[in-house]
Amino acid sequence: MAPAKQHSVFLLLCFFITKLSPVLAQTKPVFACDLSNNPGLKNYSFCDPSLDVETRVSDLVSKLTLQEKIGWMVNGAKGVSRLGIPNYEWWSEALHGVSYVGPGTKFSSVVPGATSFPQVILTAASFNESLFETIGKVVSTEARAMYNVGLAGLTFWSPNINIFRDPRWGRGQETPGEDPLLASKYGAAYVRGLQQRDDGDKNRLKVAACCKHYTAYDLDNWKGIQRYSFNALVTQQDLDDTFQPPFKSCVLDGNVASVMCSYNQVNGKPTCGDPDLLAGVIRGEWKLNGYIVSDCDSLNEIFNSQHYTKTPEETAALTVNSGLDLNCGSFLNDHAQAAVDRGLLNETEINRAVTNNFATMMRLGFFDGDPSKQLYGNLGPKDVCTTENQELAREAARQGIVLLKNTEKSLPLSPTLIKSLAVIGPNANVTHTMIGNYEGTPCKYTTPLQGLTASVATMYASGCADVSCGTANVDEAKRIAATADAVVLVVGSDQSIEKESLDRVDITLPGQQQLLISEVANVSKGPVILVIMSGGGMDVQFAKDDPKISSILWVGFPGEAGGAAIADVIFGHYNPSGRLPMTWYPQSYVEKVNMTNMNMRPDPTTGYPGRTYRFYKGPTIFSFKDGLSYSQFNHELVSAPKLVSVPLEETHVCRSSECKSVDALEENCKSLGFSIHLRVKNVGEMSGSHTVFLFSSPPEVHNAPQKHLLGFEKLHLVAQEEGVVKFEVDVCKHLSLVDENGKRKVALGEHVLHVGSLKHLLNVRI
Ligand SMILES: *[C@@H]1O[C@H](CO)[C@@H](O)[C@H](O)[C@H]1NC(C)=O
Ligand SMILES: *[C@@H]1O[C@H](CO)[C@@H](O)[C@H](O)[C@H]1NC(C)=O
Ligand SMILES: *[C@@H]1O[C@H](CO)[C@@H](O)[C@H](O)[C@H]1NC(C)=O
Ligand SMILES: *[C@@H]1O[C@H](CO)[C@@H](O)[C@H](O)[C@H]1NC(C)=O
Ligand SMILES: *[C@@H]1O[C@H](CO)[C@@H](O)[C@H](O)[C@H]1NC(C)=O
Ligand SMILES: *[C@@H]1O[C@H](CO)[C@@H](O)[C@H](O)[C@H]1NC(C)=O
Repeated sequence: MAPAKQHSVFLLLCFFITKLSPVLAQTKPVFACDLSNNPGLKNYSFCDPSLDVETRVSDLVSKLTLQEKIGWMVNGAKGVSRLGIPNYEWWSEALHGVSYVGPGTKFSSVVPGATSFPQVILTAASFNESLFETIGKVVSTEARAMYNVGLAGLTFWSPNINIFRDPRWGRGQETPGEDPLLASKYGAAYVRGLQQRDDGDKNRLKVAACCKHYTAYDLDNWKGIQRYSFNALVTQQDLDDTFQPPFKSCVLDGNVASVMCSYNQVNGKPTCGDPDLLAGVIRGEWKLNGYIVSDCDSLNEIFNSQHYTKTPEETAALTVNSGLDLNCGSFLNDHAQAAVDRGLLNETEINRAVTNNFATMMRLGFFDGDPSKQLYGNLGPKDVCTTENQELAREAARQGIVLLKNTEKSLPLSPTLIKSLAVIGPNANVTHTMIGNYEGTPCKYTTPLQGLTASVATMYASGCADVSCGTANVDEAKRIAATADAVVLVVGSDQSIEKESLDRVDITLPGQQQLLISEVANVSKGPVILVIMSGGGMDVQFAKDDPKISSILWVGFPGEAGGAAIADVIFGHYNPSGRLPMTWYPQSYVEKVNMTNMNMRPDPTTGYPGRTYRFYKGPTIFSFKDGLSYSQFNHELVSAPKLVSVPLEETHVCRSSECKSVDALEENCKSLGFSIHLRVKNVGEMSGSHTVFLFSSPPEVHNAPQKHLLGFEKLHLVAQEEGVVKFEVDVCKHLSLVDENGKRKVALGEHVLHVGSLKHLLNVRI
């Protein structure tokens, strides 16, 4: 375009922007009970913040017509102007920063970007619970700030706490990994960070989080099998000891304000239309204080893809009667009235649903009038992308990055001794790739190349046009590698390889990336550092075995400051402390195992190898919790019991006959716990953080896992410093397992506790 023309277009744009600015640039938050505009609202109890939520909600619901209520059962909720209630968009996202996915949030010239933290799988690798919560807190502050200028909602459909069951899953990147305990702790901590208010008022919310996708959802689109109609066949045992625990913890420990049911079926029933899973478990057993929402358009999928129901009205009735409160999509808006007219759905159920929805909005202050007069009312654009927040994004990436190989201490590189660094690979200078999916516009980016160039002189060759790497451009890469003092290769995947609606078939590095790496390594004279940027694990056995490749780092999708964090680790400004939150399988695993097989436990009769470190015994590329440090940490057991007795009444059947396990019921386990003390010493030369993992191998009863995580604790130790770590073990909660019928049991006999290479025998008896 010619410059003169550009000028006139610019003028024209200015004209339009000036003319339309009140419409284009929204700067006010949406809220109900605006007394300054409508003093009559003062007469309504639902607008009175001094009353309790229950009273206010029942007042409001009593004033609404059936049609008005139905309008509040979908994400694009319809305002009721006669009562001073505006339209409200329920769908916002904040998986690892305020996101533009979902119509409730937008960036504009007022807030052009928000802090983009690492994709969750990398944050999980930090194994630092306080980091999980701190990130949540910063994200909710930025979210509130954006709400205050009309750019975001108050209800965020994050986090994703599904178990990363299969390495091919395109959404594994969004999750905290394969372990139920880690996923539970991550979910509860992130939710607390998002929701908890600084005034400590437990019934009110800073923003409302949502734990998704309930349940046994971890297949998107694999060899033509689609999540919309996939029927996950799950045993009661796997459901209760693998898939459900993160959701239970999210509700009970995190006090989350919402749970989202998934697209798939579980054992033949769509999750959003299963009264046992929704009304029974979430509402009945766990007592959710909040709303149950469907995944987007999943009601339509129940009817149109699954053909589970005969009519749309039947679908609407089934889901609401099962306990669904809010529908992402317009299905209930279109069909709930007809379902009522046909007698399939009654107003009592609709009242229940909107009561849950409105109660959440009340707890958010939406019905308290002008937000600028409330707590968080002074937050605004100045509180988004602050220096501190962006520093936390860099810190989170540093804490998550996992060092997987480091022969002859080739890392850290010395920024003074390295005069020239060759930086090579399709992910070496990427921006958007670093922030993964469910992203927002970041404050800014620091690419790996930029991060490294800040410390030393670099030469750069991408080596491949993109991560697919159809044909590697090896010559240019080899030329710069041959002359450099050290080589950093940044490879891996991006959203074209693994994402929502795209599961992988192969788990090797795409295209000719391996060729590029091997050829570059072969000509390099100094250390070769392989940096893998990906969500899921990669079969990089060749790189583990290649003596020319001295170090391997996994950096997840490290967020907006990823390049700075990578450089911090490579040059030793930060001592790596991340540990893998998932097993890295060889390619042969995915060739042998169907992604559709939901079983966690191996089946010797078919040769099915099982899944995750808890059950899978076959070869791995890297294992759950793998990760090296530039330092070394020794563990020593200070105290742990050798014996635990479960008290049982005299008449208990296990007193007269041999039992392999006893029920983990309140009366047997009341305060049945013990503590384990460990001394940890940093015996290396560098300060660093270290995660202590406490595992247990239970006796072999009830198809128990070979090993499971009871707890983890991260501590920071300077060189030669010693620290003490204490685990409080609740026998019924932590040491128990789930039997074939989904019942929690304490196995009797010898439990082997592991910490690093330490083993300690614990006898559990009656
Ligand atoms: C509010 O209620 C008072 C007392 O019931 C009544 O006098 C007044 O007219 C009401 N105001 C409006 C605006 O409805
Ligand atoms: C409304 O429907 C529910 C679920 O079908 C049923 O349990 C309840 O008894 C009904 N209530 C009324 C008032 O009809
Ligand atoms: C690296 O990426 C940045 C940001 O996209 C870009 O400005 C820069 O030109 C790239 N550097 C090279 C050497 O290609
Ligand atoms: C490595 O380089 C040598 C020559 O320097 C060559 O003979 C060999 O084939 C190369 N190996 C690979 C794997 O490229
Ligand atoms: C995988 O699934 C396909 C299709 O259902 C089936 O034919 C095949 O036997 C399964 N393979 C294994 C190893 O279970
Ligand atoms: C955990 O994260 C917090 C918050 O960023 C940080 O202050 C702390 O040092 C971390 N803990 C360890 C042991 O590294």
